[in-house]
Amino acid sequence: MAGAGAQLRRVVALVLLACCSMAPAATARGMSAGIAHNITSFLSGHPEYKQYNRYLTETRVCDEINARGGVTVLVLGDGAMSTLVSDAGADLGAIKNALRLHALLDYWDVKKLKALPTGADTLTDTFYQAAGGAATSATGSVKMAKLEGGGFGFASAASPGDAYDATFTKALKQTQYDFAVLEVSAPIEFDGLFDGPSVASLTRLLEKAGCKRFAALIASTGVLKDYQAAMADKAGLTLFAPKDDAFLAKGAPDVDKMPRADLVALLRYHALPGYNPRPSLKLVKASARPFRTLASTAGGKYNVSVVARGDDVSLDTGLRKSRVAETVLDDTPVCVLTVDRLLMPLELFAGAPAEAPSPTPAPAPSPADATLSSPPSPPPADAPSEAAADHVHKDVKASSAASLSVGALAAAACSAVLASLL
Ligand SMILES: *[C@@H]1O[C@H](CO)[C@@H](O)[C@H](O)[C@H]1NC(C)=O
Ligand SMILES: *[C@@H]1O[C@H](CO)[C@@H](O)[C@H](O)[C@H]1NC(C)=O
Repeated sequence: MAGAGAQLRRVVALVLLACCSMAPAATARGMSAGIAHNITSFLSGHPEYKQYNRYLTETRVCDEINARGGVTVLVLGDGAMSTLVSDAGADLGAIKNALRLHALLDYWDVKKLKALPTGADTLTDTFYQAAGGAATSATGSVKMAKLEGGGFGFASAASPGDAYDATFTKALKQTQYDFAVLEVSAPIEFDGLFDGPSVASLTRLLEKAGCKRFAALIASTGVLKDYQAAMADKAGLTLFAPKDDAFLAKGAPDVDKMPRADLVALLRYHALPGYNPRPSLKLVKASARPFRTLASTAGGKYNVSVVARGDDVSLDTGLRKSRVAETVLDDTPVCVLTVDRLLMPLELFAGAPAEAPSPTPAPAPSPADATLSSPPSPPPADAPSEAAADHVHKDVKASSAASLSVGALAAAACSAVLASLL
């Protein structure tokens, strides 16, 4: 009988519901709402952090914090925040770096701080590091320690010895494993924290990201100067840097033999005027117009199309596609992403053999289908989440990150099964 089947399904669903609700509460909330917490609205209930909250909003660092679970925000009262703003020369980009350094990629509450080992520093990663701003991993981390006279000290891991910029003053919020807000006495800073993405650091970043060849080419052709001009512009720059392998791949042009003007066009083609970080690229609709590149002409030659499918983003030159791989730098208004193949514009390589047409892609589910049948998506987490997993340096307690991700997996599995049953 049809009714019995339906009833059985309902029973199974109920059992699953019960087991899903045993997943950590924070995870379940994060999954269902798509947002685990809202730092802006939390701090708006505490007027003594008005400046801090204002800058979190202006720099959009609040969105980064809200998008993931297992974070600790070290907030500053208005007095300490005004010190930070003046140290940063009131420059929004510089303040953004500092706010990201004050947002830790792990959950720290008073209980965990009390369990810190005595006489040794414990390192924790930060959003600053995850965003690619750090020149070395030390400058992106924050060290914590139990202080001799009691209390807890915080400083950049790049600071020498046992000097701590800031001490813990109080806990404002401790939602286990998800979200902690702790007040500290003074800003955490280090030499270079307030530097924007300079040309020197761009080259260094590219080299570090495995794009040495590209870095050398943009320097020798002078295209680096064009990038620099775009970086200084308010609209910003999005750079797609091919990895070193891409120059050796089958079908790649021999850049050493290209006429100079063509090579310049090719390199300029790898940059978009404007700030388009990965999360924004992911939202580009299939019907969207192609993007202008730094090589584009008034007539729309040298445009490139962005193709987003789920978590995957590719660039289509009309000749072939190249996948957008990692975020090397995301520092408004500049972002640098790597691509796994050279972007070969049709305008330059029309004569080259086009690659075999890819099989017709399956039709994308319509938005209505998606909302009906897919499980709620986890909070968007780009760069920070990748960095999070492998850096719980000397955390003495059981890793909260690990338990959180197990919980998240369980919850995701449960909701998927539930969605198919209900
Ligand atoms: C967070 O709270 C602020 C202030 O209450 C609100 O303006 C903002 O839209 C909220 N953000 C999200 C993602 O809900
Ligand atoms: C080139 O890109 C610009 C900006 O998106 C767009 O307005 C224009 O229509 C494009 N031209 C062509 C030929 O694709």
